[in-house]
Amino acid sequence: MILYINSCVRSESRTNRLAQAVLEKMGDYTEVYLPAEDIKPLSERRLNKRTELLSAGELENAMFDRAHQFANADKIVISAPFWDGSFPSVLKVYLENIYAVGIVSHYSADGKPIGMCSADELVYVTTAGGKYIPDFSYDYVKALAQDCFGIKNTRLVMAEMLDIDGMDAEKILREAIEAV
Ligand SMILES: Cc1cc2nc3c(=O)[nH]c(=O)nc-3n(C[C@H](O)[C@H](O)[C@H](O)COP(=O)(O)O)c2cc1C
Repeated sequence: MILYINSCVRSESRTNRLAQAVLEKMGDYTEVYLPAEDIKPLSERRLNKRTELLSAGELENAMFDRAHQFANADKIVISAPFWDGSFPSVLKVYLENIYAVGIVSHYSADGKPIGMCSADELVYVTTAGGKYIPDFSYDYVKALAQDCFGIKNTRLVMAEMLDIDGMDAEKILREAIEAV
């Protein structure tokens, strides 16, 4: 199963357009459209509940549905516009919700995360108004994927400078789509 995690907020999202070009090459996919999902930051109550369930080994609880879906995907595509040097907060909320120890990752005896995800590739798709800086967006997701989830292959697909005066945003985007 190809899992498309879409965190593009705008209905006219250029990031989503670029992601569609990636998905077209991959085939059928299941989409999780984060802005429309009922997905919340972990409150103390939900965190305690999650800890209790994980400690009791109750991994089939509905609270972990998204974590299982992520862990079982064959390929993962994440789309996220470049926001404030990073990505929309809904994506961070998603990541903290799916990061369930015992489902997507577990710890070795010396405290290192060992990935438990099946995906052989994670593609991160983004567009930026100015120059794209990957430090707190792609680089972070790549580190999580490789070091914690066990997804060794990650790839960045990107178009930048879309909001800069004098730039032809449509042309830049079309070229990025053709290059996929
Ligand atoms: C809330 C917000 C924050 C943004 N922050 C940045 C930024 O830090 N750096 C940048 O180059 N562009 C920034 N932009 C511009 C977007 O990266 C750019 O317009 C992008 O193409 C939007 O993607 P979309 O068409 O998929 O919505 C920001 C846009 C918004 C709405």
